[in-house]
Amino acid sequence: MQRNVEGKGKGAFLRGEVKKKAVVGVYGGEVLNMAELSKRYPVVNGTITEAEYLFEIVECARFVDAGDENSELVNWTRFINHSSKAPNLEIKINAAKNMVWFNALRNIKDGEELLFDYGDKYWESFDGVIVQ
Ligand SMILES: C[S@@+](CC[C@H](N)C(=O)[O-])C[C@H]1O[C@@H](n2cnc3c(N)ncnc32)[C@H](O)[C@@H]1O
Repeated sequence: MQRNVEGKGKGAFLRGEVKKKAVVGVYGGEVLNMAELSKRYPVVNGTITEAEYLFEIVECARFVDAGDENSELVNWTRFINHSSKAPNLEIKINAAKNMVWFNALRNIKDGEELLFDYGDKYWESFDGVIVQ
């Protein structure tokens, strides 16, 4: 389920309950390498910009791009917002399969907003206010 959250745009909210360590969702999108990505988004000082829904898999130098909301590969996980102070999801990566998914860091209740820590790099070119 998604709805607006003040200061963050849309957010993803859990329907039902999940137990700690359960898989909550798989990050859906198109898997691209840097050359492919740089044809799609502007590159400034060697950094991809304007790619809001991008997940970098550092281990295999690939990116999962969920920028096209009409793509059949893209799903609701693109709406999961950031929290470094109180995330309830952790990122799991299988670089050999170019796969990213989210596990519950704790038991999560019905209606809670789903949050993971984007990491500092994501925010380097962000000129808004990060809601904690
Ligand atoms: C992957 S999108 C998440 C979904 C997004 N909120 C939306 O409406 O589509 C990432 C963007 O959401 C916003 N965002 C996510 N977490 C935030 C936070 N803690 N504070 C402020 N903005 C946030 C930022 O604009 C960020 O670039």
